[in-house]
Amino acid sequence: MSQVIRFGISLEPELLRRFDRLISDKGYSNRSEAIRDLIREALVRHEWEEEEGEKVGTITLIYDHHSHEVGDKLTDLQHDHYDAVLSTMHIHLDHDHCLEVIAVKGNGKLVQRLADELISLKGVKHGKLVATTTGKNL
Ligand code: NI
Repeated sequence: MSQVIRFGISLEPELLRRFDRLISDKGYSNRSEAIRDLIREALVRHEWEEEEGEKVGTITLIYDHHSHEVGDKLTDLQHDHYDAVLSTMHIHLDHDHCLEVIAVKGNGKLVQRLADELISLKGVKHGKLVATTTGKNL
């Protein structure tokens, strides 16, 4: 952070009280850091809504590897999108369940579509795309 600008925010007392309780629960040491993170989150969300530009994220999947040949299908889909898949980490959680974390980079719409296809596969019990940023614009 090379330079900071101070500015004031007007809030209703009840809203500020609730915000202070929230940021305390989250472990923020001061309001400025919490508001900076909220602004960054909004900027990243806006970045993903725009069509242009490279996006980065992780797709987290929980699945039963006995179910519906899901392991093969997950691998096939990642090969179909090999240019967007940076790396995959696979963890055998227990006898049945696998955790897979796939790091992705590329066009936002393509990455979102890949995440949707992976998460909607039969046998995937839970999945989530964490849509983040290359960090260049923050
Ligand atoms: Ni496994």
